[in-house]
Amino acid sequence: MKKELPEDGVLQRAYDSDDKSAHYDNWADEYESDIEKERFVGPEEAAALLHSIVPTSAKVIDFGCGTGLVGAQLQSLGYQQVFGVDISEGMIKQALQRDCYRSVRHHDLCTPLLDDIRYQAGICVGVCAFGPVNADHIVHMTGALDSGAPLVITINGKAWDEMDWPQQLEDAQIQQGYTVEYIKTIPYLVDKQIDAKLLIIRNAELESKLICQPPEQYSDD
Ligand SMILES: C[S@@+](CC[C@H](N)C(=O)[O-])C[C@H]1O[C@@H](n2cnc3c(N)ncnc32)[C@H](O)[C@@H]1O
Repeated sequence: MKKELPEDGVLQRAYDSDDKSAHYDNWADEYESDIEKERFVGPEEAAALLHSIVPTSAKVIDFGCGTGLVGAQLQSLGYQQVFGVDISEGMIKQALQRDCYRSVRHHDLCTPLLDDIRYQAGICVGVCAFGPVNADHIVHMTGALDSGAPLVITINGKAWDEMDWPQQLEDAQIQQGYTVEYIKTIPYLVDKQIDAKLLIIRNAELESKLICQPPEQYSDD
């Protein structure tokens, strides 16, 4: 029997759920086939941007890695040191089967990541939307990176307007000490005609970015 997808899209159903980890645990087995039906291109868009500014020798952390779509993209681009974190054990199990991560661990992005190592880049796709991960939590991601290292992050276009992400980011940048360096509108859930914003964010100490240069084009067109 053909499975009906919700009118508002499969990601919207996830964003509306109160218990995110339980929701994603239950969804893990079918996540990729569902998301494929809506032509989710966030992972490839974000990985391509990261690849344009970060050498493939870098240690990269994938925040909210899910089943590993971003890790697979990075692997195909030549990255061999990719680490994943996610709140859902079901998603982690799927990501581990992909074999594109050095490790995949449980972590809640609403809390600081207490790691011994620092990463040279971060990527976060499909997590920032209607909450609970919001602009105040981005500092927990940039805090896991080398000083001045880039975080490439998508923000769902519907949520960008409805949750006033521009204002959230403006306030959080000042209070938390990170800088939004680049914003571009990208296709995202193509069949739902939902786009996203693709951002490069760095923690405040920009001078020390030795290996990661910004892309040439900064405008949103
Ligand atoms: C829409 S999926 C995106 C997965 C993957 N990045 C991709 O592009 O396919 C969102 C992912 O974020 C994870 N997530 C949601 N809230 C989280 C949180 N607070 N901490 C860590 N991971 C979270 C979910 O478990 C899920 O795997």
